[in-house]
Amino acid sequence: MFKYFPAFLAFVLVIETFVYSYSDPGLCTGACWAHDPTVIQRASDGKYFKFNTGTGIEFATSNSLAGTWTLQGFVLPNGSSIDNAGSQDPWAPDVHLVGDEYFLYYAVSTFGSQVSAIGLATSSTMAPGTWIDKGGVGIASKKGQAYNAIDPNLVAVGTDYYLNFGSFWGDIYQTKLNSAATKAGGSAAYNIEYDSAGTRPCEGSYVFFYNDYYYLLWSHGICCGYDKTLPAAGAEYRIMMCRSKAATGEFVDKSGMACTSGGGSILLESHGTTYGPGGQGVFTDSSKGLVLYYHYANQTVGLGDGEYLFGWNVLKWTTDGWPEV
Ligand SMILES: *[C@@H]1O[C@H](CO)[C@@H](O)[C@H](O)[C@H]1NC(C)=O
Ligand SMILES: *[C@@H]1O[C@H](CO)[C@@H](O)[C@H](O)[C@H]1NC(C)=O
Repeated sequence: MFKYFPAFLAFVLVIETFVYSYSDPGLCTGACWAHDPTVIQRASDGKYFKFNTGTGIEFATSNSLAGTWTLQGFVLPNGSSIDNAGSQDPWAPDVHLVGDEYFLYYAVSTFGSQVSAIGLATSSTMAPGTWIDKGGVGIASKKGQAYNAIDPNLVAVGTDYYLNFGSFWGDIYQTKLNSAATKAGGSAAYNIEYDSAGTRPCEGSYVFFYNDYYYLLWSHGICCGYDKTLPAAGAEYRIMMCRSKAATGEFVDKSGMACTSGGGSILLESHGTTYGPGGQGVFTDSSKGLVLYYHYANQTVGLGDGEYLFGWNVLKWTTDGWPEV
């Protein structure tokens, strides 16, 4: 026994190093269904607003992140004015305060199609019935293009605005917007994340800033239909990350691998009863600081798209500046 003890100790240390346990999602009560959620606190009163993919972009409000969430209606009750298939079912909202107006970017597409476009709706209060559809922002794609123009994410750098977008095909792209953040700025879009392996299932990007770095998150894997076809273990949605000192590229993972060459470290994946977390974003909570939010399926409750739930966790940080859940 004595002879083998050091080997045994080393084995225990290895296990200690590699078994990381994620925190469970924060509590949610009320209207907790979620799909590609986007969350913001209203500046005037601190009220939380949560918007979801699909059917006119349903939204709910709450005085606390944990709920009780109350449905308020739809951002685009009559769909988007973008004249593409899918205009009645806009996807993947991304909400930000731009100046003193709330901007909500969305995508119009259909499942598995590259015929896609990104649109914008604005409101000064986010109250039901106040949203104005501004239509397309001039970022669109068609069959054969390098990218798929869905899953918008606005990135503000000083007074400059950039829009990330992309899903499958060439993965994640970025382009500079005009100074009002309402239209594409006219320069060509460029790739900021690409994984050549398999079906290149990277989408739903989100960039946020903390200390010295811009952190790029994205969802990797199969998003939907888990109740019909359960993906092979690990092929379901998970949340990946890279970081860079610039918002516009040179993102690398924890090992230093470029995210345009297949790099990416895992921020959150299936664990316990949490299955397929993704469609994520990050916002600054007035009391909690940086909060990661996402949708997930609870394996005990059900795996159908209509059963996805709103998850959130206050981000923790490693000593070398990587976020953890
Ligand atoms: C939606 O369409 C109905 C019927 O045409 C119209 O009365 C209503 O004003 C429209 N709502 C919005 C927000 O455009
Ligand atoms: C899943 O649902 C079960 C039963 O309601 C509950 O006990 C568990 O905490 C839930 N897990 C998550 C991650 O929501």
